[in-house]
Amino acid sequence: MSQPQSMLEERHTAQQRPQVRLATDADAATLAHLRYEFRTGLAPGVTPESGFRERCTEWMAARLPWTDVWRCWLAENDAGEALGTVWVQFLEKLPNPVGEPELHAYVTSFYVRPAARGGGIGSILLGTALAACAERGCDTVFLWPTPLSRSLYQRHGFTERSGALELKLWARPAEEQSP
Ligand SMILES: CC(C)(COP(=O)(O)OP(=O)(O)OC[C@H]1O[C@@H](n2cnc3c(N)ncnc32)[C@H](O)[C@@H]1OP(=O)(O)O)[C@@H](O)C(=O)NCCC(=O)NCCS
Repeated sequence: MSQPQSMLEERHTAQQRPQVRLATDADAATLAHLRYEFRTGLAPGVTPESGFRERCTEWMAARLPWTDVWRCWLAENDAGEALGTVWVQFLEKLPNPVGEPELHAYVTSFYVRPAARGGGIGSILLGTALAACAERGCDTVFLWPTPLSRSLYQRHGFTERSGALELKLWARPAEEQSP
């Protein structure tokens, strides 16, 4: 389950407590930079950084005036430097007549910069995103964890659900995979 806010606050008494806010299109270049760091931290980049950042900035700027589909939160220190981020995509379900919520949520690009990790910023970001999902009345929040992040999600209430099926249509070629 989520850690109580008091515990998170305690973890930040000795250090600067981050400000978490909804990102806007004005943050797109910063978020594209974080996105590049996040993804190339997991697998080697295959496109030049500058080209990627330009394309990603444009993509994010078009989606960040708080549309119904995408929301993004940004954690910053008092100097306004970006420390981490999380994105949520809201997915409509078809109308149903049995009283179920008609929205799912997908958590993605959850990232805290290496120097800021381990102090609860990730938990604050994730808790903020999950509160927004609850507020919008979502049915299920889903994501694909990395092996190291699994325990963090479990502390926020995520469980493995047997019965879900996944058809993977693309896989990174073996020669590009990290050893
Ligand atoms: C996952 C991540 C956002 C957590 O940020 P954070 O500010 O360190 O989070 P918190 O301090 O609230 O929680 C720390 C927890 O993160 C998890 N964690 C620790 N190192 C991690 C790492 N390198 N990668 C992913 N998760 C990690 C652990 O569950 C840890 O809890 P523990 O110390 O009790 O084991 C951050 O580690 C990160 O950006 N990792 C790389 C990107 C990534 O893996 N994102 C998740 C993709 S599904």
